[in-house]
Amino acid sequence: MKELQKKAREVLNNNWKDRFSIPCANLYPFQWFWDSGLIAIGFAHFDMQKAEAEINTLLDAQWGNGFIPHIIFHTESDSYFPGPDFHCSNLHPEASKKYKSTGMTQPPVTGFVLENLYRISSDKKATLKFIETVIDKVYFNHEYFYKNRDPQDEGLIYIYHNWESGTDNSPIWDDIWKTMNSPEYTFERRDTTHVDASERPSKREYDHYLYIIEIAKENNYSDEKIAELSPFLVQDPLFNSVLIKSNESLIALYKLMGNNEDKIAQLQKWQTKSIKSFNDKLFDEELGAYIHYDLRNEKPIRYISSSSFSPWFANIPNKERAASMVKVMLDKFGGEHQYLCASFDPTSERFSPKKYWRGPVWINLNWILYNGLKQYGYNDIAERVKQDTISIIEKNGFYEYFDSRKEIHEHGNAGYGGNNFSWSAALLIDLLNS
Ligand code: GLC
Repeated sequence: MKELQKKAREVLNNNWKDRFSIPCANLYPFQWFWDSGLIAIGFAHFDMQKAEAEINTLLDAQWGNGFIPHIIFHTESDSYFPGPDFHCSNLHPEASKKYKSTGMTQPPVTGFVLENLYRISSDKKATLKFIETVIDKVYFNHEYFYKNRDPQDEGLIYIYHNWESGTDNSPIWDDIWKTMNSPEYTFERRDTTHVDASERPSKREYDHYLYIIEIAKENNYSDEKIAELSPFLVQDPLFNSVLIKSNESLIALYKLMGNNEDKIAQLQKWQTKSIKSFNDKLFDEELGAYIHYDLRNEKPIRYISSSSFSPWFANIPNKERAASMVKVMLDKFGGEHQYLCASFDPTSERFSPKKYWRGPVWINLNWILYNGLKQYGYNDIAERVKQDTISIIEKNGFYEYFDSRKEIHEHGNAGYGGNNFSWSAALLIDLLNS
């Protein structure tokens, strides 16, 4: 295990670019929001300075309205499409003047990342001091979501693009693409020059991705207009679980710091409302798990993915629901020939074991599930998730995602996408030390 941990540290150090980390070379050459947060958890185990710098750089790119972008384009690079010239996020009047970025966001991990830095730190006093310098920016980011991304005042935040979900190519979005009449764009993709095209989205899917951005641009990235006009508007259980978990962490940290009664009270209000709506609206009794809701077309999207189990992490389900989710996960995702946890229901016809987010196992979701299962006392299953995670990395290396079918790992490489991938390394380090 020492050897594996050493390699993981090397991956992180190699992807470190002075003030921030890239997810991996070539395929993802900039700073990504949720990658950055999860990477900081890995660094916290051996280089707290880098962990703090990572968060500082991310928060430095925050907009005047509290928004944090999903990609921060620190450098010029033509190895990625669509780049800053396509996104034109400076159309928004409050966009950062200092950094080029996209005009969409990603799951807001920063709150619970800060709490994890504190947990891991061997100098709690110093880490709390650091947290005190950044925590209000994270609070401001949560305020942005509740003020601008919740048009029906439910305590549930919408995402307006599949890239905001973090689970970019999930089959969850397939039915939404059918409702859209996107133009055919001419463009040169870069992802398929780095990774096998069969593992990536189709050209037609890319047309939809670009079309949603075009609509946002036509409206200068106004949240109000996007809520009114975007053909993609979804309440995502993973995104909302991450926000709710981060609320919980902010409350805990503000209490540790003392003197923040107003913010604590506001966070608790958001929590109560969000958790109630989450349970009322996103749990599907028949499927026995949480699902996405298509807010634009006002209908539930009735598919199970690894996101369906993320509410454990944020203490959202009651005991009965948590138990029903465990059963669903083990029945559908947990057969003896499967590694936990596939990103999409392996019993569905939409399951595709090599295509990104349409089936493979992802280390960040496994980390979320591991911690969630432990919170509910399912230590044996949590341990299985942990051991599966260690095994697939040991066998293949620090890939971006992995085949969930055990037999594939017996016949050579079963890791896909980018290699030497930062969050796979970072979260492995955390799992090995937990
Ligand atoms: C892919 C993933 C996304 C991640 C990004 C950078 O687009 O779907 O979640 O943030 O890569 O690693």
